[in-house]
Amino acid sequence: MIPDTLKSKLQQRISHAVTPREAAVDVLKMLQAHYGWLTDEAVAEAAELLGLSTLQVDELATFYEMLYRRPVGRRVIHVCDSISCWSMGGEALIAHFSKYLGIKPGETTEDGAFTLLPCCCLGNCREAPTVMIGDTIYDRVTPELAEQIVAKERT
Ligand code: FES
Repeated sequence: MIPDTLKSKLQQRISHAVTPREAAVDVLKMLQAHYGWLTDEAVAEAAELLGLSTLQVDELATFYEMLYRRPVGRRVIHVCDSISCWSMGGEALIAHFSKYLGIKPGETTEDGAFTLLPCCCLGNCREAPTVMIGDTIYDRVTPELAEQIVAKERT
């Protein structure tokens, strides 16, 4: 059940949209920030607030890769695997994160700290290879920098 304060923030966001659907991704992001991921309950609550069906909301939630329909770690490491990053060593970078964290892409560390997810272009191709965690973009990530990022993000 959504706390009243969050519910009123969601309703406020929806009231400022031209159509409820326009606010759907923001609503899902806010619910994700609350639950940690988009549970079935969160999807149902979003649908009710937006006046959409749960299927419509689920379609949105499963389309955007920064929305998570499965449990994730406290920090999600998105490593770009599109062409510019791939050509600048992105594949080796994902392999390094994987080895360093002891998880395969798509998995979460045992302590629940990190999930490793390859992702599509983050719009930062000039600074490839690129990693995004939360709202932070990391440029030109080397294996050494990857380990520093993990240490920083763990705190
Ligand atoms: S290809 Fe990686 S940020 Fe664009």
